[in-house]
Formats: sequence, C-alpha cells, structure tokens
Amino acid sequence: MTLKLPEHRPLIAPSLLSADFSQLRHEIKAVEEAGAELLHLDVMDGVFVPNLTFGPLVISSLRPHSKLLFDVHLMIVHPERYLKAFAEAGADLICVHLEATPHVHRAITQIKELGKLAGLSLNPHTPLENLEYLLEELDFVLIMSVNPGFGGQKFIPSALRKIEKLKNLILQKNLPTLIEADGGINAETASSVIKAGADILVAGSAIFGKKDYHQAISELKSPT
Ligand code: DX5
Ligand code: ZN
Repeated sequence: MTLKLPEHRPLIAPSLLSADFSQLRHEIKAVEEAGAELLHLDVMDGVFVPNLTFGPLVISSLRPHSKLLFDVHLMIVHPERYLKAFAEAGADLICVHLEATPHVHRAITQIKELGKLAGLSLNPHTPLENLEYLLEELDFVLIMSVNPGFGGQKFIPSALRKIEKLKNLILQKNLPTLIEADGGINAETASSVIKAGADILVAGSAIFGKKDYHQAISELKSPT
C-alpha cells in the first residue's frame, strides 16, 4: 500500500454526483472544511450504467483545489483503457467494477503499478464468492448498496449481510483490506453500515442535499 489513510473510522467520502455542478470548486472546499476525508468521484460512461458524468479532465482541473483524497469510482466498461489517465488526473484511490471487464486481475495490477490504491466494486447482485482469487490483491472493496448509476436511491438492505460477511472474511484472513459502502447512506442507514464493518462511507444526497455540510458529515460519523 503506497498511500496511508487516516486511522479513525468511519472515513467519509462525499459523492460529487450530488453537488452543484456550477460550483464544483466551492463545493469540494466546503466538504473538506466540513470534515470529509475523501472525495468520491463517480465516473459513468452511459454503457456500464445508464448515465453519463465526467472524465479525467474534470478531475485534473479540480485536483489543485483540494487536499482531499480523490476516490475515483469507475462505472465504465473496460476500465483498463483509462486507468493511466485517471492516475495522471490525480486519483489516489481507483476502483473498477467486477462486472465491467473480464480482466479484473489485470486492471487491479495496473492500478497498483500506477502507485494508487486499488479497489474492486460489486453490484448488489454480485456474490462475494467472486472475490475468492482476488481479495488478497485489493486495497479496498466497494460494496454497492444501490444499483449504480444515480444518486438519491434507496439503500438495499442485503448489502448489510454482504458487508458483514466480507468483514469476517477479511478478519479471518488477517488482511488490511478496507470496505467502502456506496449508495443510500444517510443518518438513518449509516449506523448499521458502520456496525456491519464498513470503513469508508460514501454519501451524495445525504451531504450535498443538506444545507449544513458539517452537521451532515458529523451525523454520518457518529449516527445515533
Ligand atoms: C451511484 C454512485 C454513488 C452515488 C451515491 O452509482 O456510485 O456514489 O453518488 O449517492 P447517494 O449517497 O445519494 O445514494
Ligand atoms: Zn460511487
């Protein structure tokens, strides 16, 4: 692992997808000041998911304006085509989807060779068994708790079982692998997600949809 993440848990990664896109520079500064540790950047290609967002150009133009760790979630087919571009744009963590390429192992190896933390994301229906020959290679696993493509969706409860099972697997094997949870996380769902074993919570609408980002992030860090 090249990069050290802060030790405390959970770490909060506001998802830029729910930010005001006419004010991106201001929005990332605001979540940084409000206590976030990472910035979650959802890259969508309109093929792997039915939506389009942004690419390396937007990420590289934001990079000089923030000290946050850039957590790039690639929802694109054959992500290996663009790993170098996202690394050069300033990503610190890069995550590809298990369902997006037949060459997952190669993509993970490439991310590590680029000196970035390598993550693998699983759609809600994808079983953990698919990680059997990969888990040891991963810096983190991103468990989707909604179907990827859009912000503001409802949390899928079976994600909790998946996080719990993955946490046990990681502990059993004594691995440093982190668990990131993404989708439908808010002040109500956060406590069970943390209890299940998630280290990093992604939240879009539950942060950018609120007036007070500091309060929103505090509520996610210590939910009641
Ligand atoms: C969905 C994205 C998420 C999304 C989360 O495909 O991966 O990161 O922005 O948004 P909320 O927190 O609103 O569910
Ligand atoms: Zn995401």
